[in-house]
Amino acid sequence: MTVTTPLVAGNWKMNTTVEEGVKLAEAVRLGTEGLKGVEVAVLPPFTHLRPVYDEIGHSHVQLGAQDVFWETKGAFTGEVSPLMLAGWCEHALVGHSERRHILGETDREVGRKLAAALAAGLHGILAVGELEEERFAGEWVTVIDRQLHSALEFLPQPPTPGQYVIAYEPCWAIGTGRTATPEQAHEVCAHIKAWLTERTGAAPRVLYGGSVTPDNAASLFAETAIDGALVGGASLRAEQFTAIVTAAAPGARVG
Ligand code: PGA
Repeated sequence: MTVTTPLVAGNWKMNTTVEEGVKLAEAVRLGTEGLKGVEVAVLPPFTHLRPVYDEIGHSHVQLGAQDVFWETKGAFTGEVSPLMLAGWCEHALVGHSERRHILGETDREVGRKLAAALAAGLHGILAVGELEEERFAGEWVTVIDRQLHSALEFLPQPPTPGQYVIAYEPCWAIGTGRTATPEQAHEVCAHIKAWLTERTGAAPRVLYGGSVTPDNAASLFAETAIDGALVGGASLRAEQFTAIVTAAAPGARVG
């Protein structure tokens, strides 16, 4: 019997000034203070990480970066090394669908990023998810399996559940207001867990992401395969994000 503590992470994307970001982080810290049975994280833009760290660094709110490069140093103008984040920043998100589909990141690049993040001791948040046409074509299993397979390919050994989480984010649900139904989200999250258990011996937590709001959070968290959320738009409003974290809080489920 295991107890899974859910994780709710706010992906701010390319939003807020540094000053607004620090205020938002403070509001998240105050709003979620004292909540038991849930982990909370914010993923501000790179420019905000250090000032936000100064605001929340010694609190219960964890800090993460929205991306990371696969090399540790060198002539890679504009990139950020995992070693620059390690030791004070806990999480590194890799493979977000906006990076895959707007910036053209490949499965291979995502895999290299995950490997570099884990090697530096960062906790990885690996995002996977199918496009709308892939879902309509009944291909989500193929897409998710391919993304998982290539993400693990560059790791020297199978990751342990404590080293990373998966964020299942169907592309058609991100920023669209069209949340996956709890049943749809559960089906894919359960599949991801089974796939990873078979290949690595154990499954990490699996989060759902895609138009999560205070209104739909509880029904998503009620699904046993969903261990939290990666929240975009609603994470920019401290009260909404706090409400989502609160919805996950009684969910230190026994299962
Ligand atoms: P959303 O974004 O909550 O605005 O849909 C989620 C994400 O992209 O992580």
